[in-house]
Amino acid sequence: MEITEIKLKELDTEKFIAEKVEEISSIVGDGLAINALSGGVDSSVVTMIGHKALGNRLITYFIENGLMREGEPEHIVSLFKDLGVPVELVDAQKTFFKALKGLTDPEKKREAITRAFYKDVFGKLVKKTSAKYLLQGTNYTDIEETVAGIKRQHNILEQIGIDPKAIYGYEVIEPLVQLRKSAIRKVAKTLNLPEEIYNRPPFPGPALAARVIGEVTPERVKLVRQATRIVEDELSSSRAFQYLAILHEDRVTGIRDGRRDFGLQIEVRCWESTDAKRGSPTMLPSKVLERLAERITAEVPGVISVTYNITKKPPSTIEAV
Ligand code: XMP
Repeated sequence: MEITEIKLKELDTEKFIAEKVEEISSIVGDGLAINALSGGVDSSVVTMIGHKALGNRLITYFIENGLMREGEPEHIVSLFKDLGVPVELVDAQKTFFKALKGLTDPEKKREAITRAFYKDVFGKLVKKTSAKYLLQGTNYTDIEETVAGIKRQHNILEQIGIDPKAIYGYEVIEPLVQLRKSAIRKVAKTLNLPEEIYNRPPFPGPALAARVIGEVTPERVKLVRQATRIVEDELSSSRAFQYLAILHEDRVTGIRDGRRDFGLQIEVRCWESTDAKRGSPTMLPSKVLERLAERITAEVPGVISVTYNITKKPPSTIEAV
């Protein structure tokens, strides 16, 4: 890997922002660029730096892929509107579910999401706007883990031999490739992004599809979305690095209303980590675990079993897919 990391302690955020603004302006010239905002710290920072560089020559989209958390698309669009950045919501739910139909293999699911995102959705947007550049918030860890063959991160292209210009018809600009998450949070603070953004727990690009084992259908995403809301509700005060719900593929036998039931399983994970490279499970109090089990089985239809992951990363990874 030829990219040199800029470590947190070496980072001068003002200087970094000024350099990236300059770099983006000179690459794009007087043309147009587009970018996708998800509300995560990486894409939020790229959106703000991109707008500083290009103003309204950067068109920012929120891609509603049907895989986001409850209320997330509308909330993020309105938050950025308040920051003076217009964001267009694109409904691409059908495209993503069509691409994911019938797939169960984790890497195939990731590949399908990458293709839907870059070829189907962005290919069309680039044609519609005649933009020649896509700005995105790929970070140092994304590249490192993909190159090491650990997991194909949804936003990695050139490092795995995909030439976006040749395949999708546009060039990709990645201003954050030298930074890890903690450094990106510092840049976000300097950019005056709200704490909800600069301290936002990581959320994967493939969104809730990274938390559905087996086929990703609208119905199964709805279940994991409901469980996610409960987990985030109960664990946001834990100050953990990341907390999530996973829908399993296997069903298990249980009892409901005095009768045998064959129901769904949700796994809860809560991680202590600093950079997502390594992690260990948070030692949650038993009262919290009990409440999670009670709420998930009562509020998510069909769930009869809730488990807590007690494994470290490695050998586990943070997400399930
Ligand atoms: P894993 O599951 O590989 O996750 O231990 C490490 C960190 O990265 C997030 N993650 C992703 N982020 N695109 C992203 O932008 C992806 O494809 C992706 N997969 C995992 C994950 O949530 C964790 O913080």
